Amino acid sequence: MITREHCAILDAGDPLAHCRARFDLPPETIYLDGNSLGAMPANVPARMKIALEEEWAQGLIRSWNDADWYPAPQRTGNKIAKLIGAGQDEVIVADSTSVNLFKVLVAATRMREGRRVILAERTNFPTDVYIASSVAQMTGCELRCVDPDEVLASIDETVAIVSLTHVNYKSGKRYDMEAVTRKAHEKGALVVWDLCHSAGAMPVHLNRCEADFAVGCGYKYLNGGPGAPAFVFVAKRHLPDMRQPLTGWHGHAKPFEFTHDYAPHAGIDRMLTGTAPQLGVIALEAALEAFEGVDLEVLRAKSVALGNLMIDLADQQLAGLGCTLASPRDASQRGSQVSLAHEQGYAVMQALIARNVIGDFRAPDILRFGFAPLYVRYIDIWNTVAELKNILETRAWDNETFLTRKSVT
Ligand SMILES: Cc1ncc(COP(=O)(O)O)c(C=O)c1O
Repeated sequence: MITREHCAILDAGDPLAHCRARFDLPPETIYLDGNSLGAMPANVPARMKIALEEEWAQGLIRSWNDADWYPAPQRTGNKIAKLIGAGQDEVIVADSTSVNLFKVLVAATRMREGRRVILAERTNFPTDVYIASSVAQMTGCELRCVDPDEVLASIDETVAIVSLTHVNYKSGKRYDMEAVTRKAHEKGALVVWDLCHSAGAMPVHLNRCEADFAVGCGYKYLNGGPGAPAFVFVAKRHLPDMRQPLTGWHGHAKPFEFTHDYAPHAGIDRMLTGTAPQLGVIALEAALEAFEGVDLEVLRAKSVALGNLMIDLADQQLAGLGCTLASPRDASQRGSQVSLAHEQGYAVMQALIARNVIGDFRAPDILRFGFAPLYVRYIDIWNTVAELKNILETRAWDNETFLTRKSVT
């Protein structure tokens, strides 16, 4: 029997407990939606004040040089590289995940001429499927979407690219990156990993797994803020051969020579297109300071412990109340979230949010709870399940306010 006291003891022994103070969180709120929009690191406003009032207002155009704005996408990419097992100069910050996915999928398809299949999975995040579908149409390929359990067996010699999300946005199910990448390479295919739900939530070993390409967003576990720019990884061995399609001036070898013909930059800068969203890059770079001194294995251990606690408490407290587990019970197959299915999931989540317990809802029936190990506490899990139990027992969700859908869920 798990008790509230047990959760308090876990918090007292948490080696990452001190990291919570690195975030500016409303005191009475339990925030379990860092897998959608990360909390704001407390150092970001001061950095933004300087960026706005000194660098922009006073420095004006000079700040591209004098405040080192221009190399910020590379600098920030190198900081992210350390979190995802990439080398220096293999990661750069640019655009959105969707746009970066487009760039790497086209580039990868061009590197496998003669093969016609882009293999993806049916339950992938919609943008990944929409972009892959468009790339398939443009490049004369076929987009083949299979069930998650069929991915490994479906990789054969016809496949040019395997395009997968490392951790599924809805179920939190995690692929074995090493096994999938190995099989793809054995069959001569390249792999593109979407790391939106893994970067900053667990150690990722892109180079150890010999991954080819990866993309991911800056606004979830990396805490870069709403609409933060995304990142893109290209393994160094592929950089000389890869030609991405959005050949804007910032990807040029010498942008400020303003030549008529396009010549790609020799390194990761070739993944750039236009001018960086500089304020967003500055916020993301500052936000990454929250990871300073954090051992990613310790981060993962806490993430697993939070997820296991949520599942054990759901078993203990929610039996017979209409909730079923929609994430793998086995932590080795899970990312940093636990999803529960309930037929009134939307209204139940709204009722929770009204009580200051913030998760989110994904159609048709999924309640998502994300655990950002830098700021989520064990006691938060206890309180969340207690509120959920009360909402389900009293049918507090059965109220017009909670049943009416808002545009962002
Ligand atoms: C797995 C995954 N990929 C891509 C995206 C969207 O990326 P963006 O809006 O940066 O294009 C999301 C957003 O939640 C996501 O979960």
